[in-house]
Amino acid sequence: MVTESSSSSQSSTVPTSKGMARTLAQHHQAVVGFLFGFFVILVLYTTVSGQFGSNTIVVLQSTPAEQNARASPPPPSSPASAPNNSTQDIIVHKDDVNKTMGGEHNQDNVPGTDKNNKTDANFDNMQANRTEQSGGQPVNSTITNVSDKMKEEELIRQELDQDDDKDETNVKKGPAAPPKPICDLSDPRYDICEIIGDARATNRTVLYVPPPGERSADGQEWAIKDQSRKHLEYIHKVTVRTLSAAQSLAAPECTSRHAVPAVVFAMNGLTSNPWHDFSDVLVPLFITARAFDGEVQFLVTDLQPWFVDKYRLILANLSRYDVVDFDRDAGVRCYPRVVVGLRSHRDLGINPARAPRNYTLLDFRMYIRDIFSLPPDSVGIPYKAAAASNNNATVDGEKRKPRLMLINRGHNRKFVNIPEIADGARAAGFEVVVVEPRRDLRLEEFSLAVDSCDVLMGAHGAGLTNFFFLRTGAAMLQVVPWGHMEYSAMIFYGVQAKEMNLRDVEYSIAAEESTLYEKYGKDHPAVSDPESIHKQGWQLGMKYYWLEQDIRLNVTRFAPTLHQLLRTLGE
Ligand SMILES: *[C@@H]1O[C@H](CO)[C@@H](O)[C@H](O)[C@H]1NC(C)=O
Ligand SMILES: *[C@@H]1O[C@H](CO)[C@@H](O)[C@H](O)[C@H]1NC(C)=O
Ligand SMILES: *[C@@H]1O[C@H](CO)[C@@H](O)[C@H](O)[C@H]1NC(C)=O
Ligand SMILES: *[C@@H]1O[C@H](CO)[C@@H](O)[C@H](O)[C@H]1NC(C)=O
Ligand SMILES: *[C@@H]1O[C@H](CO)[C@@H](O)[C@H](O)[C@H]1NC(C)=O
Ligand SMILES: *[C@@H]1O[C@H](CO)[C@@H](O)[C@H](O)[C@H]1NC(C)=O
Ligand SMILES: *[C@@H]1O[C@H](CO)[C@@H](O)[C@H](O)[C@H]1NC(C)=O
Ligand SMILES: *[C@@H]1O[C@H](CO)[C@@H](O)[C@H](O)[C@H]1NC(C)=O
Ligand SMILES: *[C@@H]1O[C@H](CO)[C@@H](O)[C@H](O)[C@H]1NC(C)=O
Ligand SMILES: *[C@@H]1O[C@H](CO)[C@@H](O)[C@H](O)[C@H]1NC(C)=O
Ligand SMILES: *[C@@H]1O[C@H](CO)[C@@H](O)[C@H](O)[C@H]1NC(C)=O
Ligand SMILES: *[C@@H]1O[C@H](CO)[C@@H](O)[C@H](O)[C@H]1NC(C)=O
Repeated sequence: MVTESSSSSQSSTVPTSKGMARTLAQHHQAVVGFLFGFFVILVLYTTVSGQFGSNTIVVLQSTPAEQNARASPPPPSSPASAPNNSTQDIIVHKDDVNKTMGGEHNQDNVPGTDKNNKTDANFDNMQANRTEQSGGQPVNSTITNVSDKMKEEELIRQELDQDDDKDETNVKKGPAAPPKPICDLSDPRYDICEIIGDARATNRTVLYVPPPGERSADGQEWAIKDQSRKHLEYIHKVTVRTLSAAQSLAAPECTSRHAVPAVVFAMNGLTSNPWHDFSDVLVPLFITARAFDGEVQFLVTDLQPWFVDKYRLILANLSRYDVVDFDRDAGVRCYPRVVVGLRSHRDLGINPARAPRNYTLLDFRMYIRDIFSLPPDSVGIPYKAAAASNNNATVDGEKRKPRLMLINRGHNRKFVNIPEIADGARAAGFEVVVVEPRRDLRLEEFSLAVDSCDVLMGAHGAGLTNFFFLRTGAAMLQVVPWGHMEYSAMIFYGVQAKEMNLRDVEYSIAAEESTLYEKYGKDHPAVSDPESIHKQGWQLGMKYYWLEQDIRLNVTRFAPTLHQLLRTLGE
């Protein structure tokens, strides 16, 4: 997660492998095919353009701060006593995946959906009209060239909170009649199948063999996309089949039997952008699998070795068993229960009313902190924690300063005057750590660096996804680029920061601080009248504001924001 550019960071890698080529091809195809979905396209564009860029973030200037006496994070929990052969037939060993694919992607951010309540007219202009009912076909309105794919993507954007009363406790344990039907395709974001009983998984297919008394003459078959964005074109389908009486008699023999449930999900899609890694896979996986308390095995389709490697701590905690490459597994794995697909409630979010154990996004942040062995949240932000301890209130006789991590972006919306910004922040009273995209830092280390900061500052973009590593009361300082992007800033990061008990601070730049101003002059509509740009369709807004502009922060204008923040942190 680190920065957009950091994404795959962790997998310090050279883009060479076949897999890499495949990934590239996928993304390329995606780019070509998707000149539609507003956010989606943006993500892909940046992914491709960033393909050969650097990926990780590196701490350029770290200050001699007090190092926490913490050792490096523990290795992923080793598969403990494997009950009943659960770890047999391991295809991918978490600990020794070679990171050959991951490093290249990068990221931008800009997630794919929005909320139903659109208060921002600009944003509305970029959206197609939608039907009220979830899952319905969107109706064209403001977008004149609505392709089928666009329609698909639009569906993704629907906010699903209206389905609050759906029963989603997916953790009923013990024997239960298999739900009928097995697959539920009703949610606008995701499809999900759940088999309880004799479930046999093989070769991207999950078979349900009903007990003899419940077999019927006809079987039933579904094909669903096993990730949280059910309409994403390049998530390939997984087949789920209830066998008929005749088929049941000829069901494939189990080559391994497992005592724990399995969850089947796809690792491709929009992953490689850290925001999407979390929004599309990790948070949905948390919702779907956390309540199994590690007693679950993951059968992964379109497995991405870089993803397995980068997020190995999280995956190893959600499942104490090895990840299975479900596209290549030749065996017939038999489980007492299989869930196919990932539940998702909204963009980078959790609706507690629909989540097992009423999990919240705050729970998720605490969980992530735990897994990365960050200090208990109760210690408070580093600045306050230091102040609280007499001995360390001063360093070399000076008052300990709050630490600000300044994340730069690699390709667009980057700060072009980083040294000046860093100096400005220092002058305002912060200790500054500048991080830029690089390839060789691992998330385990980077999480510690973020944790040690009181402020995470960056331009609107995926680098801010690192806010999961901040402590309660720390601040996310989001610099909102020119072009009426406040609404996006809020729904993709601001709302989440608040929900996770972080301070959400936003600084909207003036036109003069956008490189569009230098490039086009003050009278160009992109500079003088963003509204008029948005009215011409989302493509144009994206071109100027998301892809083309960089930021030359006016440190004089920005200073009051820093002073205010400094005061707040001290309170
Ligand atoms: C102060 O910081 C130093 C390291 O910087 C640490 O060894 C020491 O334990 C700290 N003292 C207190 C009281 O926290
Ligand atoms: C192993 O399987 C046996 C029989 O299938 C079952 O009784 C036992 O509880 C299982 N053990 C574990 C740890 O799941
Ligand atoms: C576990 O595996 C061993 C060897 O592969 C096999 O003999 C045994 O029957 C298996 N146990 C179960 C419960 O499947
Ligand atoms: C895996 O990584 C090791 C060391 O990092 C390297 O020697 C080996 O060639 C890699 N294997 C593959 C298949 O990339
Ligand atoms: C959506 O808008 C309605 C009325 O405009 C309001 O009652 C509701 O709370 C809003 N929901 C959200 C999630 O903002
Ligand atoms: C959306 O569509 C409905 C009916 O399809 C229409 O009444 C409404 O005016 C449309 N809204 C916009 C913003 O186009
Ligand atoms: C939507 O677009 C289709 C063709 O793309 C057109 O037939 C239909 O009339 C449009 N509907 C509205 C409400 O504009
Ligand atoms: C719609 O798309 C077609 C081809 O992609 C293009 O020729 C046409 O100009 C577009 N129309 C609008 C209104 O954008
Ligand atoms: C897996 O399924 C594909 C097509 O669905 C088939 O071509 C392939 O032979 C199958 N592989 C195995 C090992 O069954
Ligand atoms: C997951 O982490 C929690 C603490 O965060 C720990 O209690 C639990 O044992 C871990 N589970 C696994 C499977 O490692
Ligand atoms: C979760 O929240 C819902 C609604 O807020 C409540 O009805 C339900 O009992 C809660 N479930 C749990 C397990 O706490
Ligand atoms: C920077 O901001 C200050 C205060 O708002 C303003 O006076 C000054 O003109 C700005 N500088 C530039 C180059 O825009």
